Amino acid sequence: MAPRVAPAILVLHGPNLNLLGTREPAVYGRISLAEVNRSVHRHAESRGARAVCRQSNHEGELVDWIQAAGREGFRGIVFNPGALSHYSIALRDAVASVRVPVVEVHLSNIHAREEFRHHSVVAAAAVGQISGFGPASYLLGVDALLSASPSLDGRRAAARRRP
Ligand code: DQA
Repeated sequence: MAPRVAPAILVLHGPNLNLLGTREPAVYGRISLAEVNRSVHRHAESRGARAVCRQSNHEGELVDWIQAAGREGFRGIVFNPGALSHYSIALRDAVASVRVPVVEVHLSNIHAREEFRHHSVVAAAAVGQISGFGPASYLLGVDALLSASPSLDGRRAAARRRP
């Protein structure tokens, strides 16, 4: 039997998230993006999946990655669009244009912050939104993708195949 390939999940971080750890620590905490990514990798592996993490400060690059995700073999996207969540119709349209499911995540609870952050134009095109759990929002995003699409959960799929 061919070896099972762990399903790959793409984790996208938008503008300014490269500064995690030093950026407004009272809001976003002191954990760096590299540390967030490490825990995402560990968590995905513990669920029988594999995570690939990318960050960009550029809207167009995020659009390109979303469009390419299916071709690249990703089975889902955990996406923190940062400030672009609140006004990027291009990102909303990219999410709506692909078959790959997208879960929108935020470190902070955007609904409890300034009014301009309450609305995400991306959210309606996503499978759902997770907001306010700090770095755990990303792990919950991975879990949400795996439970929204059971075939994504490599560990459960392997367990099902066992006699
Ligand atoms: C954020 C919330 C956005 O409003 C903000 O612009 C960010 C980070 C979050 O993860 O809490 O850059 O997406």
